[in-house]
Amino acid sequence: MPASTRNKALLTRSAHAVWHPCTQMKQLETLPLVPVASGKGVWLYDFEGRRYLDAVSSWWVNLFGHANPRINAALIAQLGQLEHVMLAGFTHEPVVELSERLSALAQGRLGHCFYGSDGASAVEIALKMSFHYWRNSGQPGKNEFVSLANSYHGETLGALAVTDVALFKDVYAPLLRNSAQVPSPDARLARDGETCREYARRCAGMLEDHLETHHARTAALIVEPLVQGATGMAMYDPEYLRAARTICDRYQVHLIADEIMTGCGRTGTFFAYEQAAITPDFLCLSKGITGGYLPLSLVMTTDRVYGAFYDDQVARGFLHSHSYTGNALACRAALATLDIFADDRIIAANRAKAIRFSEAARRLAEHPRIKCFRHTGMIWAFEVDTADPMFARRFYAAALARELLLRPIGNTVYFMPPYVITDAEFEWLVGQTLAVLGQCLT
Ligand SMILES: Cc1ncc(COP(=O)(O)O)c(C=O)c1O
Repeated sequence: MPASTRNKALLTRSAHAVWHPCTQMKQLETLPLVPVASGKGVWLYDFEGRRYLDAVSSWWVNLFGHANPRINAALIAQLGQLEHVMLAGFTHEPVVELSERLSALAQGRLGHCFYGSDGASAVEIALKMSFHYWRNSGQPGKNEFVSLANSYHGETLGALAVTDVALFKDVYAPLLRNSAQVPSPDARLARDGETCREYARRCAGMLEDHLETHHARTAALIVEPLVQGATGMAMYDPEYLRAARTICDRYQVHLIADEIMTGCGRTGTFFAYEQAAITPDFLCLSKGITGGYLPLSLVMTTDRVYGAFYDDQVARGFLHSHSYTGNALACRAALATLDIFADDRIIAANRAKAIRFSEAARRLAEHPRIKCFRHTGMIWAFEVDTADPMFARRFYAAALARELLLRPIGNTVYFMPPYVITDAEFEWLVGQTLAVLGQCLT
């Protein structure tokens, strides 16, 4: 079959047989799917060899490129040993080693890893564990949660209940438990003349006001540390996390760090919370942990939390499970990912890269129709000054035509490329983005 026919045939079959995520399927009539035949490094290829630079790391999961030879080799070796075994009553080398290495990365303070599959399942685990901890500790009334305005924590019912995105949440409101939202420390919301740090402190004050009244019913505060991704890469000062930690301790409320997007070096440190010199009670990790290869998520927690479940009574244990919990292949991909971090000193290398990339992106920052150009670690974002309600869709389509995979969130365009992107590729990304902008703004 000729390549162009293979492209077309796959699109037709997919639109019929696959219900695609986060998609109004009728829109595929005017904005077709992109067929992907293969990937290499930052590039995705269709059957005709048309290429796309994956500037959003395939929904923020890919760190070291598609078809990475080191992760491939580790997976092939693991396939010859063990693909999967249930984790209740059994264990295996990859899951033990991964737990030990992640615990070491958290300075031994989060030494107990509980495994899930996708990010949302980690959020469910953290919420349930927090509530159950308080119940086991004689405070069953602590059964409510607080999150930040404009937060995103996933689509399952518990995760959606602490999410604050109307488009995803409102339809399902009758199914969801209420949660409270406190103001987001998003630096763009600072008053004129107020620094982002001052604004972070002001928001922390509002968190304290909330907990002063509601602490007896509140189990945990859940936050996306430093960057609220899904609602448009809202970046904030680490001071908020520092203050939130102190306030949570004062009112006996857990702090859940949802690092599903911000973890694995994305914000410049391996865990984003490190930049506030704190330790959360629960840490949710997923996405990049397998280098973007396989679904794996986990919740790391403290000796204190673990100890509250350790008992002769079965019902005081955490009886949550998923069939693929701690999958051996996914854990092996995660270990290969951690090896690359260590062997190639990725955190330091990314720091140097980010300085060069920010310089390369200066042309965007200076563009007259671009506002709030900002950067944290390996994430760059800006707002486009346009009243076009179809901007995101038009930009996405125009970017594809210029070999770029970029998915704006509303008027926010962002780059979250795999860490293996080269200086030349980043420079090209900036140039193409300017060209796409020129096209969309006329
Ligand atoms: C901060 C955060 N939490 C949770 C999730 C949900 O993860 P998943 O889509 O793997 O369920 C996401 C996904 O983007 C996220 O960014």
